[in-house]
Amino acid sequence: MHDPSIPSRKKQHVDLAVSADVGFRARTTGLDQVEIEYNALPEIDASDITTTTTVLGKQLQLPFLISAMTGGYAEATSINAMLAEAAQHLGIGMSVGSMRAVIERPQAASTYCSILQTRPPLVIANVGAAQLAAWHREGTALDMVQRLADVIEADAVGIHLNPLQELIQPEGEPRFRGVLNAIADVVARFDRPVVVKEVGAGISGAVAGRLLDAGVRCIDVAGAGGTSWAGIEILRSDDAEAVDHLWDVGIPTADCLRQCRFPCESHGATMIASGGIVNGTQTAVAIALGAHAVGTARPVLRELMATQRVDSVVTFLQGWERTLRQWMFLSGSATIAHLRSARVR
Ligand SMILES: Cc1cc2nc3c(=O)[nH]c(=O)nc-3n(C[C@H](O)[C@H](O)[C@H](O)COP(=O)(O)O)c2cc1C
Repeated sequence: MHDPSIPSRKKQHVDLAVSADVGFRARTTGLDQVEIEYNALPEIDASDITTTTTVLGKQLQLPFLISAMTGGYAEATSINAMLAEAAQHLGIGMSVGSMRAVIERPQAASTYCSILQTRPPLVIANVGAAQLAAWHREGTALDMVQRLADVIEADAVGIHLNPLQELIQPEGEPRFRGVLNAIADVVARFDRPVVVKEVGAGISGAVAGRLLDAGVRCIDVAGAGGTSWAGIEILRSDDAEAVDHLWDVGIPTADCLRQCRFPCESHGATMIASGGIVNGTQTAVAIALGAHAVGTARPVLRELMATQRVDSVVTFLQGWERTLRQWMFLSGSATIAHLRSARVR
């Protein structure tokens, strides 16, 4: 039997993400099939390049976010604190993991609040869309979001769509009726920006269109090709055989970006690329496919857990920055906005 408590589940998720082979089996992000076209006449100096960008109303030094991961159990306190210290040092954004645990056990708040020890320039709270819909039915969605965001003094809230994960998760709650209404209500009334994200199976152009029509103005595509949440839950399942064929379900990150770019741009919305981004070249490609910033979860978690050092996470992402700057120069892009319109093949 699985222990259904949130702390033990959250710990299992981190442990599996760090030590098990939970990447997609055959599906890739598709980002390696895209190339930024070399520009022999860039008309900029490498020293002209600036990587600052504004996401969810906050200026970041680099177009990077540490995606939602954890909280709700003892060891998460130091994981969130160390990731936040790295994010603050780099001047990038960071989200905590799903905060539902705080409603069930208010004493769990400290496992998320450790992000405030060295506050990154953009702090994002996180809730599940199915949970939000349940609160909406009870008429409490806005209060809950406000409460959770206030716990970590969040600048924005992330709402995750994870029907694939909920379907497979042994304790899952695959109840998604009413989710769009709940999101629309929170977007309309919450006093801070909202980002809607997947967890690694991707947001299609059609889904993005429905979210945008509901008022959402920031979408993190969190596409397939990186961490397989189906994979993590299959490893936790008592009947893995019954769900094993779902391991690779999802829309590759590059496809999500291609599909979501036009709908996002025509609504003036921000698009974040994430799901399987593992280096600075893929970061540059994702931005050239229209992303304003990229998010990364498992790669930074693994780096942190392997070394238990904040400076190794910083050095890791500085490597991405170095490569990103090379591609900006080679495509003649002095700014992130210019890189978004670089030619790709
Ligand atoms: C250990 C772990 C826990 C996660 N928990 C959450 C969560 O609570 N809420 C959420 O929105 N996404 C969560 N995610 C999903 C990530 O935010 C991200 O969308 C996904 O892992 C794909 O990115 P990646 O390929 O860079 O890992 C989690 C990911 C990992 C690795």
